[in-house]
Amino acid sequence: MMKKVITVLISLLMILSLAACGNSASQTRQPSTEEKQTAGTVNSEEPVENSANAENTDTSEGQTNESENPDILEEQATKVLVTYFSATNTTQGIAEHIANGLNGDIYEIVPEEPYTDADLNYNDNNSRTTIEMNDPDARPAITGSVEDMEQYDIVFIGYPIWWGEAPRIVSTFVESYDFSGKTIVPFCTSGGSGVGSSATNLEQLTDGADWLPGKRLNGSDSQDTVMEWVNGLGLDFGE
Ligand SMILES: Cc1cc2nc3c(=O)[nH]c(=O)nc-3n(C[C@H](O)[C@H](O)[C@H](O)COP(=O)(O)O)c2cc1C
Repeated sequence: MMKKVITVLISLLMILSLAACGNSASQTRQPSTEEKQTAGTVNSEEPVENSANAENTDTSEGQTNESENPDILEEQATKVLVTYFSATNTTQGIAEHIANGLNGDIYEIVPEEPYTDADLNYNDNNSRTTIEMNDPDARPAITGSVEDMEQYDIVFIGYPIWWGEAPRIVSTFVESYDFSGKTIVPFCTSGGSGVGSSATNLEQLTDGADWLPGKRLNGSDSQDTVMEWVNGLGLDFGE
């Protein structure tokens, strides 16, 4: 009698465990509608393996806010662009000091037709630069452009002094964009001349921008020297 009871009990246990296996197997092959929806939501955003992202799909409010805040902060941060024209790389060095020091983007104003040594000969009355600088309306063409100028709040504009002025290609540059609402910081290098009226003349070519006074720097100035000037401008770089 006892044997029969044990046999029946074992048989029952086996049936139950087989039924359980059958269920789990059918679940793996055919997820319920609810499971399909959940998997679809996660897959459509990020791979499921990424546990950090999987957590972001959690409906917990705290986690959702944490994942959104960095985006909001990024949008609010001050964005700096350092632009420059440099025929013989002196101004370029200063521009790099500023961009590195501020962790800003950098953009080189590149002439469609590069300036040759002959072009840069200021002792030649017929050289390209002499002709361009004698004509206030000259606008040498630029190749390439700033991607999404709108995103920037502060724009540095660097150039060499040519005959007391900014090269005409810098006029081409400032006339190519809408700088309204932006702060512009002009800077230059030279053989000795000061910034003079070069920056205020460029300012006349733009509308609605806040131009800071221009600054003449030495090509040999160190990063520290350059950043001392930058940090003394009274601007909020959002850092
Ligand atoms: C066509 C030309 C005109 C220049 N005119 C002046 C000038 O009026 N005053 C001055 O101090 N330096 C003058 N320079 C020297 C440059 O301003 C100086 O070398 C500058 O640092 C060069 O910068 P870059 O290497 O970025 O082009 C002139 C240079 C060139 C090529």
